[in-house]
Amino acid sequence: MCGIVGINSIEQIKVTDAVKRLKRLEYRGYDSFGYFDGKKLFKKIGQIIIPNIPDKSSIVIAHSRWATHGGVTQNNAHPHQSCDKKITIVHNGIIQNYQELKKDLATKGHSFIGETDSEVAAHYFEEKIKRKNIKEVCVDFIRDIKGEFALLVMIEGDENIYALRRDSPLVLGVAEGQNILASDIYAFSDITTKAIFFENDEFAIISSDKYAFYDKHGKKTDKKIQEFRWEQEESATENYEHFMIKEIMEEPKVARRLLMSLGAEQKENFRKFVNLIRDSRKITFVGAGTSYHASLLGVYYLHKCGIEAQTLIASEFEHFVGVDENTLVIALSQSGETMDVIEALKYAKGKDAKIASIVNVPYSTIQRMSEISLNICAGQEVCVAATKSFVNQVTLMLAIAKDFGFRITLDTIPDRIFEVLKQEEKIKDIAHSIYKHRDIYVLGRGLSYPVAREMALKIKEISYIHAEGMMGGELKHGTIALIEKGTPVIALISNSDYSMLSNAKEVEARGANVIKITNEMEGNIKINTSNDGKFGILATIVGQILTYFMALEKKLPIDKPRNLAKSVTVK
Ligand code: G6P
Repeated sequence: MCGIVGINSIEQIKVTDAVKRLKRLEYRGYDSFGYFDGKKLFKKIGQIIIPNIPDKSSIVIAHSRWATHGGVTQNNAHPHQSCDKKITIVHNGIIQNYQELKKDLATKGHSFIGETDSEVAAHYFEEKIKRKNIKEVCVDFIRDIKGEFALLVMIEGDENIYALRRDSPLVLGVAEGQNILASDIYAFSDITTKAIFFENDEFAIISSDKYAFYDKHGKKTDKKIQEFRWEQEESATENYEHFMIKEIMEEPKVARRLLMSLGAEQKENFRKFVNLIRDSRKITFVGAGTSYHASLLGVYYLHKCGIEAQTLIASEFEHFVGVDENTLVIALSQSGETMDVIEALKYAKGKDAKIASIVNVPYSTIQRMSEISLNICAGQEVCVAATKSFVNQVTLMLAIAKDFGFRITLDTIPDRIFEVLKQEEKIKDIAHSIYKHRDIYVLGRGLSYPVAREMALKIKEISYIHAEGMMGGELKHGTIALIEKGTPVIALISNSDYSMLSNAKEVEARGANVIKITNEMEGNIKINTSNDGKFGILATIVGQILTYFMALEKKLPIDKPRNLAKSVTVK
């Protein structure tokens, strides 16, 4: 995680402009932030605040941190400097052998001010540069470091930024009069559509008007500029208090946009994608967090039309899933950068499996690792909690399933979503009645099981209420012991699922406060669809709104919940 930005500009720029670029990456981590403008080193704990300063510079590096090694302290905040303060670095990733390196550097007289792995990079460069030229030092760094890095280095008296990458995302934005290095394109998508993506074990020398890329041996590499297209700028909350609710309200619009794109610019790719599924002997999805839940729904929908698939949480993938050259691995990821997913794909590639992906961020690492990729066209999602991206992931799954015979009218999805959004006040009342509880249980069966898990995840991460999303049938095998008088239990009952209704009755009999979300049966929230596919999406949206209002009642930092980050680029 962590967001990094480095700007090298022909004209001097306001330092605050660099911090504003960093702010666009804040969803990658917000424990602390800092910058170095060639003269001033600034670090601060907490979310990014644009400082009120007149400072200008033509070169700035900046960092927004999600703590891994070392607590959230001023000393552990980036940028880090060498003992002589001549080398300044920002780093995203984990230097696994940092303790060894630190010990070695300490014997050579280096002292460290914090506990991070990243700080060793500054001292490593300081030590090596005494004897070698900078290109040789970069080659050595790539050879000596175990672990992941997107690293930017500034050297006193030198007008370049040195950028090195392995596994952590890093991209160069080529803008008019300036080169901008960043963790992802969103940092500069407002001023350029030209990007160059770093490959693994590559480094680059970036000046204000030039750039040169090198491989791990120091040999120059030829790089192509990629023109990227980004749906639209959605960086302001507009009339909404939070990005979360703004992004939920955008759901009809983005679902429509996706459906249109599947019938137009993505039509050919969609066909190829479906054919790849058709021709594969084994299909397995992989994802993390919300994306994993979307993939579970995908497995359900495909199963309903006779296509057998499986899915597993990315971080456990290689321990439980066997793949070979006849396997198609489909990665689901909003960011396209989740390290656990990337690791699972590397494992699958190592076994010659085919890789396909469904992502939101174009040109992301996962998309570039795939033979074929579909875009969910949700536009930028700023709130850490995935909402509209989930809706579009599932809509895309439904479009695929429809191609295999799943019965659904896709075109009415946006209207049905809109009808759910109109029930906002009713959902708000439910939120008000349960937000003080310590535990909430969400029960589902079949298609509503993944929905139950997704709802519980939202409740935990945004409302800070312990929630369990589970299979209705499994409840009686243990968890039912926790049901007390008044415990809120949300039951997701699609169509005439009497087994699910029985599970709801079982907890009701033990005093639970059952909140039913239904379409056919009587319920507290009724969803206007008779289709299983749509129920999956619409019931999840009820959960998103419920979570939002519970967090609002509790006055929580809805868009940036504690300890989380939107793009998780560490294992
Ligand atoms: C993080 C985010 C979640 C997200 C998960 C997977 O944990 O906080 O909201 O679902 O990563 O992210 P991806 O970008 O791969 O969908």
